[in-house]
Amino acid sequence: MFAAQTIDSTDKPAFYRELATQLKALLEGESDSVANAANTSALIFQMVPDLNWAGFYFLASDEELVLGPFQGKPACVRIAVGKGVCGTAIDLEMSMLVKDVHEFAGHIACDADSRSELVVLLRDNDGVFGLIDLDSPTPGRFDKDDQAGIEALAAIYVAASSFED
Ligand code: SME
Repeated sequence: MFAAQTIDSTDKPAFYRELATQLKALLEGESDSVANAANTSALIFQMVPDLNWAGFYFLASDEELVLGPFQGKPACVRIAVGKGVCGTAIDLEMSMLVKDVHEFAGHIACDADSRSELVVLLRDNDGVFGLIDLDSPTPGRFDKDDQAGIEALAAIYVAASSFED
């Protein structure tokens, strides 16, 4: 049985290094992309402080993201590329750090409690194919250390998982 170990989160880079080690252990020997996304979102939601949503969206086509495994309240199922924080991240091919979602024109409110948001991309050799989205009820919750830490977790998820049809 995998049991996540509590990590001191005062030193964020150290926190994310330890979380990366735990995620590798959690995904070890499993390549199912849905199962791994489910467990990755569960570990993030359990371990990263002050979140109200953590989960995946995958590109169903060049124009549309579809909801994947997540933790938190039920969320918007389909997001057009270019719309909201998630669709903008895909459009610009970059992570998005939104300090105050109320200031982001076009933010899609799936949970009215969300005040800040971090989106990082999932990439393989063929390019971007999805993203991990974190929401927090605290404005300014995420910084560059969170972005780098979650990008590292996204890379571990991609490396562990098989995406063949
Ligand atoms: N807020 C996101 C939508 C997804 S939910 O936060 C889970 C956006 O603006 O794209």
